[in-house]
Amino acid sequence: RIVYVNGEYLPEDEAKVSIFDRGFLMADGVYEVTSVLDGKLIDFEGHAIRLSRSLNELAMRNPISKDDLLEVHRELVRLNEIDEGLIYLQVTRGSDGDRDFAFPDPETTEPTIVLFTQSKPGLADSPAAKKGAKIISIEDIRWGRRDIKTVQLLYPSMGKMMAKKAGCDDAWMVEDGFVTEGTSNNAYIVKGNKIVTRALSNDILHGITRAAVLRFAKEAQMEVEERNFTIDEAKAADEAFTTSASAFVMPVVEIDGVMLGDGTPGRIAPRLREIYLDEMR
Ligand code: PDD
Repeated sequence: RIVYVNGEYLPEDEAKVSIFDRGFLMADGVYEVTSVLDGKLIDFEGHAIRLSRSLNELAMRNPISKDDLLEVHRELVRLNEIDEGLIYLQVTRGSDGDRDFAFPDPETTEPTIVLFTQSKPGLADSPAAKKGAKIISIEDIRWGRRDIKTVQLLYPSMGKMMAKKAGCDDAWMVEDGFVTEGTSNNAYIVKGNKIVTRALSNDILHGITRAAVLRFAKEAQMEVEERNFTIDEAKAADEAFTTSASAFVMPVVEIDGVMLGDGTPGRIAPRLREIYLDEMR
């Protein structure tokens, strides 16, 4: 695989980052995941805008212009012959060669930028999406700035492991009784023709897929309600689903052992998945 590190395209085993990098020592960094279908980037613009925002919120310099970033994405797709898959992008604060809680001087410290591809044949035509996901609920104990896409992913990783241990696919996180989001996706329930999802705030990541899916839902005359919902309300819903750049729209068929509807992906979620893929590719 050819990867991109700080301006260079290199074979992955030749790419190097300092052990003092604050991304490595302090999870001081942000990331984006953009999907590729038919060799084309899905919603690059949205991811580039959110990257700028994340960097800005953390007082980190953006090391690359949007045009150059697009070029790097395209070049990696080309070099690695990606037809279906993902591009991972990470920017960390870099380092001045020491460990210190205070940020290093931004004038003299270059952020570190890394991009790599992950080939995922069958991403769009996924058997998992036809089956639907089983999820568990766990307490949301993450920090209060989940709107910033940081690389602090230890708790979401633990959540995923708790789900696996329970024989499930993923976890939804719950705070003060209300669902925030999935470990790596936004969460929705469906009641009749109405789609309910938590409103945007610092409590959740402002999903790029979420924005597109809600737009398409409204265009298809589906009702959308942005409000908090409890895990009990979710268990009593007709359907549920998640959205993310890596899984698009993923139906949820079971929550904490409670089957939703007849335990199949239902009507709305598969339709939204189809619309999303049709419109975006
Ligand atoms: N995760 N919420 C969280 C906590 C996420 O990590 C993600 C994305 C989303 C969905 O955002 P988007 O639609 O922009 O992908 C919501 C990526 C895919 C990941 O960590 O791999």
